[in-house]
Amino acid sequence: MHRSHTCGELRLDNNGVTVTLSGWVQKARDLGGMTFVDLRDRYGITQLVFNMETDAALCEKARKLGREFVIKVSGEVIERESKNKKNPTGEVEIDVKSLEILNVSKTPPFTIENETDGGDDLRMQYRYLDLRRAPVQKNIMLRHRVGMETRKYLDSVGFIDVETPYLIKSTPEGARDFVVPSRMNPGQFYALPQSPQTFKQLLMVSGFDRYYQIVKCFRDEDLRADRQPEFTQIDCEMAFVEQEDILNTFEGMVRHLFKVVLNVEIEDFPRMDYDDAMCLYGSDKPDVRFEMKFCDMAEVTQGKGFGVFDSAEAVLGIVVPGAADYTRKQLDKLTDWVKRPQIGAKGLIYCKMNEDGTTKSSVDKFFDDDARAEWAEKTGANKGDLILVLSGDLDKTRKQLGELRLYMGTELGLRDPKVFKPLWVMDFPLLEWDEDTERYHAMHHPFTSPKPDQLALIDTDPGKVKANAYDMVINGVEIGGGSIRIHDRELQARMFDLLGFSPEEAEAQFGFLMNAFQYGAPPHGGLALGFDRLCSMFGGSDSIRDFIAFPKNNSGRDMMIDAPSPIHDEQYSELQLKSTHTPK
Ligand code: AMO
Repeated sequence: MHRSHTCGELRLDNNGVTVTLSGWVQKARDLGGMTFVDLRDRYGITQLVFNMETDAALCEKARKLGREFVIKVSGEVIERESKNKKNPTGEVEIDVKSLEILNVSKTPPFTIENETDGGDDLRMQYRYLDLRRAPVQKNIMLRHRVGMETRKYLDSVGFIDVETPYLIKSTPEGARDFVVPSRMNPGQFYALPQSPQTFKQLLMVSGFDRYYQIVKCFRDEDLRADRQPEFTQIDCEMAFVEQEDILNTFEGMVRHLFKVVLNVEIEDFPRMDYDDAMCLYGSDKPDVRFEMKFCDMAEVTQGKGFGVFDSAEAVLGIVVPGAADYTRKQLDKLTDWVKRPQIGAKGLIYCKMNEDGTTKSSVDKFFDDDARAEWAEKTGANKGDLILVLSGDLDKTRKQLGELRLYMGTELGLRDPKVFKPLWVMDFPLLEWDEDTERYHAMHHPFTSPKPDQLALIDTDPGKVKANAYDMVINGVEIGGGSIRIHDRELQARMFDLLGFSPEEAEAQFGFLMNAFQYGAPPHGGLALGFDRLCSMFGGSDSIRDFIAFPKNNSGRDMMIDAPSPIHDEQYSELQLKSTHTPK
């Protein structure tokens, strides 16, 4: 028997019991007459004690244990003299009677403790060692829990888990595909799915009614803290439903997950129009944990002789509560921050509403006391507040002020990761115009249906058409998105036409779906939640990497297995591919 108990289990109640434990040596301390060893497994850490007086040979053996040796010990649970209240097993220790070394270990490249000295790259290279650390294990176990609860919930409301293929067809819409050459079909490639979108729609045509899958998706796009090239979705689809049914179902699921995983009650699940989100927060994924809504200041800023404002398409401001005491240095720092290329503003105008009733702006030359009082009235700023103003092209200014708003929210500690404010952002535009390619792109994807009452606009003003599409946003993160789908062949064909596909191209790319629509496709819709993002939100982190057992780095590399990597010449010839790579 390798163990009678785990390393996280023993308490004072077990005093006097003989136990067997197995695990890894986290630390050994030799105090002359006594040797103490911290033994770790995924359940916790238990202290072992070896006594020179009672068994010198055993104590000698224990002294030679290195970090991360795998050992098995048997002994008696005894009460500790100096108790460690921070550790659940900290009131007891094991008076060891026998010790077996199950495996030795090289000294690990970083300390395997809650706080480690290992840098990111090293920990990625030795991810299997990093995964021994309790905080990392906690994240992976949280992920397991969220996955199990999701499955239980969806099963309980009649969803069926159906697997869809990973080797599919490359399509030009969306992000770049990862492609896989086919040996049996020389010169032809599969693509890894960016999502199971078309398959889940086909399952609705097949009558499955309620489908879900916790599924890997692959996108060859630029990476960020919340983006991995392979990531996981909770992918869902329902037939014979309207938007309202879908919103209610998944609002219910997310409420349930917050309750069972974090014991958090979600009070409110508001809905916001896309247009309002852009207008008030400059973002389609607003963080509504704090206010600082945008104020259109054109009326009180233009026509006063300040050229920057006069020539701007938009002048937008936010009120930062209690920040009138910002120093010159702090304001300069903020100005530098908005001028960084990542934000791209040309400058920042401020106006302080001082506690003593006076006001002071960076453009006093153009705006006297009365004009500044108008600013305060327009924005609702009170004594002690700071107004920050950006101006320029509408879309850009919204984006820049949106970033500044988040920055200020963080600065003022208004973005508490333990507070959760979800919402639905609704009524997205169906299409967005792309200046580079001079054509429309689908804002969500080409299968999203227009709002029925706006069908006529498709022919006259397609850019104005709103879609039956919605995103679930929590704390400023897009957790999921979906839509009611087109289930009519003619409308789908019209959509492809709008997106610049010739009928032949549409047929070649998506003929299978359009054909399926001719055989009794029910009305249907669905959504997909980003599973990694949901887990990192539950875990209070911005980085999804910490919640993926074997993630890629920001260059899309797996540092541990060293992938991607070159392939052999024989593989090239087998696949009938030409190598353009010159061996080093
Ligand atoms: P969408 O492309 O919005 O929709 O993706 C759904 C959710 O998946 C998450 N996500 C990602 N997470 C980590 N890394 C990535 N690279 C990444 N890309 C997306 C986000 C996002 O909200 N088929 C549609 C859904 C539908 O219409 O039903 C789809 O894939 O949280």
